[in-house]
Amino acid sequence: MSRIKLLNIVGARPQIIKASAISRAVRMHFPEDILEVLVHTGQHYDKEMSDVFFDELEIHKPDYNLGVGSAGHGKQTSLMITGIEEIILKEKPDCVILYGDTNSSLAGAIAASKLHCPVVHIEARLRSFNKTMPEEINRIMCDHSSTLLFAPTNAAFKNLMNEGFRPENSPPYTISNPKIFLTGDIMYDNTLFYSELAEKKKAGLLDQLSVKKDEYVLVTIHRDSNTDDTDKLSAILSTLMHLAELNNIRLIMPFHPRTIVSLKTKLIELHRELTNSRFVSIIPPVSFLEMILLEKHCRMIITDSGGVQKESHFFKKPCIVLRKETEWVELVVNGTAKLVDADTYKITEEFIHFMELKEGLDYPAFYGDGKAAEFILGEILQLFENR
Ligand code: UD1
Ligand code: UDP
Repeated sequence: MSRIKLLNIVGARPQIIKASAISRAVRMHFPEDILEVLVHTGQHYDKEMSDVFFDELEIHKPDYNLGVGSAGHGKQTSLMITGIEEIILKEKPDCVILYGDTNSSLAGAIAASKLHCPVVHIEARLRSFNKTMPEEINRIMCDHSSTLLFAPTNAAFKNLMNEGFRPENSPPYTISNPKIFLTGDIMYDNTLFYSELAEKKKAGLLDQLSVKKDEYVLVTIHRDSNTDDTDKLSAILSTLMHLAELNNIRLIMPFHPRTIVSLKTKLIELHRELTNSRFVSIIPPVSFLEMILLEKHCRMIITDSGGVQKESHFFKKPCIVLRKETEWVELVVNGTAKLVDADTYKITEEFIHFMELKEGLDYPAFYGDGKAAEFILGEILQLFENR
């Protein structure tokens, strides 16, 4: 069999991190069988939203950067489709790999499927069942353009029945006869791989932030439904600041640029109060090693991020989810994640519940064995075995 060429599409922060798991598995297990080409759409472009991950996680620099940047959904996605289409025509990859549910993934799905290039969707089949989320539309489109779909959880795998995917499909697999797999989560692979390294390389981080292990709460917010609705953002942040003061605990908040923009332009007074509070530290986005160190040593996590919800589980931390629903339903069923939306009462109730709880939480192995990337690459190779 000749070497197969994978075209990886990344653009947003979590995709760069996810691609590092696949890159590492190629280097470690299949260096002679697989050639990777990396396309960065440029959806995220600030140093701390993009370059930092390439440097820290030792991913090779993008072969192409489309430099698309920020724009409305239509303009951003269409520029990406145009750029990815040209690259597929030039590179003629054997397949295109998509990670998750961003506009970069959607653009890859459209460009590749129209050129009859097989699509591999990693982190497939997740659903929030809320089609007002841009990500929900993107997920559905990506899944229905794919030839191989790798579902990270049982819940995701079960979702397929409702949309007509059949686990019993047999080869040859195509977009019309796709194959679905239950794999575990490549982000769990990453957490296992980087956890010890984070301790070594970022040893001074807690001191720099003047916090001690178990004596701070880690908070991230970036969903458009929270950042662009000032009533919600204000309710969340005012409630958290108040709770931190009452409970004498620090809040460490590495905020996405869009959250900072909203605070600085639409919630100026609240931003001033937060900045002046000795219980609140709003900091720029941190690197992945810094983030997992902060997750590992915090008291609890409060977030609207998909990835951070799962990482709370990997590090056995209770998690308050600033959303109405989640794709990671097993965490909620397990009682270790609580959905609170932006509801002041619910945030307060769950914050106090988790602050007072000393033991009794269980963190079952929902996300595989840490070898999902290797499994995925093995299956991709099988797809091309007999060509
Ligand atoms: C995107 C994804 C979301 C994912 C998130 C990960 C879509 C529709 N959304 O949301 O699913 O959870 O990435 O972080 O694809 N900005 C900067 N610098 C940057 C990047 C963004 O300042 O490097 C600001 C800009 O004001 C921009 C805003 O953030 O308008 C939103 O960025 P965008 O990439 O459109 O969406 P995200 O909220 O990052
Ligand atoms: N992350 C990071 N630095 C930060 C915030 C998040 O490295 O300041 C990592 C986090 O550990 C997780 C991923 O980014 O692996 C999640 O990305 P994000 O929350 O932006 O998007 P989502 O997962 O919701 O799509």
